[in-house]
Amino acid sequence: AAPVRYEAESAVITEGAAESNHDGFSGSGFVNFDNKTGSYVEFTVDAPAAGSATLTLGYANGTDANRPLDIAVNGDQAADDLAFPSTGVWTSWSSVTTTVTLKAGANTIRTTSAAAEGGPNLDYIDV
Ligand code: GCU
Ligand code: CA
Repeated sequence: AAPVRYEAESAVITEGAAESNHDGFSGSGFVNFDNKTGSYVEFTVDAPAAGSATLTLGYANGTDANRPLDIAVNGDQAADDLAFPSTGVWTSWSSVTTTVTLKAGANTIRTTSAAAEGGPNLDYIDV
């Protein structure tokens, strides 16, 4: 099936903010994580059936350094320190993919800053 897009600015944001001051995002903005370990965004995504799913995470990272995120699905860690490398400037957007296991129905996907600099600016997750 075609992927479904979940905008970060519509997810539940803890220690971060929905912003729109860097052009090129999808939807109405992106999430600027607070620059600290542990800031997070939680999405609720729907899966028609249990099984493996590819997550595509759209982001920008205008610094020179990696901005890793930990990915948890339904409370269980699914990816540790998933890398979000530099995109050069905050208006340049790229994506990272990872594969997770979902259950049928509603699933929570939490993306948590894994380093003191915080996560990248997160635009969306395609599931
Ligand atoms: C800048 C930028 C933010 C970004 C932040 C960061 O302040 O404008 O969008 O989130 O850097 O380093 O995380
Ligand atoms: Ca930030």
